[in-house]
Amino acid sequence: MGKAGGTAKKAETEHTVTLTDNATGKSVDLPVHAATEGPSVIDIRTLYKETGMFTYDPGFTSTGSCESALTFIDGDEGVLLHRGYSIEELAEQSDFMEVSYLLVFGDLPNKEEKAKFVHDITYHSMVHEQMLNFFRGFRRDAHPMAIMVGVVGALSSFYHDSTDINDERQRMIASYRMIAKMPTIAAMAYKYSVGQPFIYPSNELDYAGNFLRMTFAVPAEDYEVNPILARAMDRILILHADHEQNASTSTVRLAGSSGANPFACIAAGIASLWGPAHGGANEAVLNMLEEIGHKDNIPEYLKRAKDKDDPFRLMGFGHRVYKNYDPRAAVLRESAHEVLEELGVKDTPLLELAMELEKIALEDAYFVEKKLFPNVDFYSGIILQAMGFPKSMFTVLFAVARTVGWISQWKEMIEDPVLKIGRPRQLYTGPERRKYVPLDKR
Ligand code: CMC
Repeated sequence: MGKAGGTAKKAETEHTVTLTDNATGKSVDLPVHAATEGPSVIDIRTLYKETGMFTYDPGFTSTGSCESALTFIDGDEGVLLHRGYSIEELAEQSDFMEVSYLLVFGDLPNKEEKAKFVHDITYHSMVHEQMLNFFRGFRRDAHPMAIMVGVVGALSSFYHDSTDINDERQRMIASYRMIAKMPTIAAMAYKYSVGQPFIYPSNELDYAGNFLRMTFAVPAEDYEVNPILARAMDRILILHADHEQNASTSTVRLAGSSGANPFACIAAGIASLWGPAHGGANEAVLNMLEEIGHKDNIPEYLKRAKDKDDPFRLMGFGHRVYKNYDPRAAVLRESAHEVLEELGVKDTPLLELAMELEKIALEDAYFVEKKLFPNVDFYSGIILQAMGFPKSMFTVLFAVARTVGWISQWKEMIEDPVLKIGRPRQLYTGPERRKYVPLDKR
């Protein structure tokens, strides 16, 4: 099924598949819808009505939860496309504002469209002054992701005029506000944790440069944004912008399907991203590399990663969808060298350890057989640490970047005529109905 530009065309039925219950001999025909790229889907919406049975798919390994025109991944080939454009081309030639526009609106902007978008995002980057007091309620040693979940959830209490999800204009304003304010909130979370004053956004700077300044500038000194670091930051943002129906995006969609306001939905997405199996892996990778310490210790950790009785996993390795090198990791691997060189970091023990670990793991039969390759989180932490970010901020940065993906997916869902509240069913294996036993008889 083809589609014009970046706009979606509704899926068409390609053919049908027949499902036969071998116990009763009863058959049901289910339509198959063709995708623009990648696997078709079997439409099982009538299955329960027709057969009285649900499907069972813990972890959603074979379940398409929605129709989407945003992002396509070919996990076997290591391909990632946003609205049809490859992540490599976007990372090389585009910038985060352009990619954000592409995700939100479906096509790359022309000059005027881009200038207006950048202007609109820039002018939404300040947060309500009362939010400063809200921050002050947190402990100084709070994890910045905990602060993010709380503060982003609280945005709906500050911006009442953009919480009506049925009003297209309010949806748009909420989207701009989320994309614009996330770097400000993230930088504030950092500043609060190190006991430095909050730095207001500067409308002169671009998105990435502004974020670096809000994070690292102090009022007592001039701060000049290093263009190479700003470009590297921008690239990190592009690489994390969207990734199909991953756990946090599905969380945002599920929260939004009940009609919850977008700020609350994004806060739910941040909570989901925090886990070490998802966005929390970038922090976990650095912890792991520091724990491994020296390349001589790699075999011991590889052994542990392969041991089913040991919960240790090689963080930054493996992916539900990629069974090939994560294309984002390939870009970041290059970026890591550039950034470290720019910063004049001669001694790069962590990068060297990471590359050695990657080399050994990629030759190891266990990792080869299970198709476990480095993912986006494997190299990002090394770059971020070199830039001066503490480990606790790594997942926050992921959240800043992914906000545009979450918002675009949320908007797409709200605007989809087939929107229904997300309500999975289950295979019940608890006790059968039984009689209540009064306390004195138990
Ligand atoms: N180290 C050692 N073994 C692994 C690893 C790993 N990192 N990842 C998967 N395996 C093994 C796993 O034990 C299983 O073996 P078996 O078939 O013998 O039981 C097999 O590979 C398949 O793994 P799975 O857990 O069934 O696969 P999944 O699709 O449910 O999990 C994953 C994907 C990303 C959660 C997992 O690979 C993992 O935990 N990786 C480490 C955490 C990580 O780097 N997460 C970041 C993901 S990418 C960015 C993002 O989503 O935010």
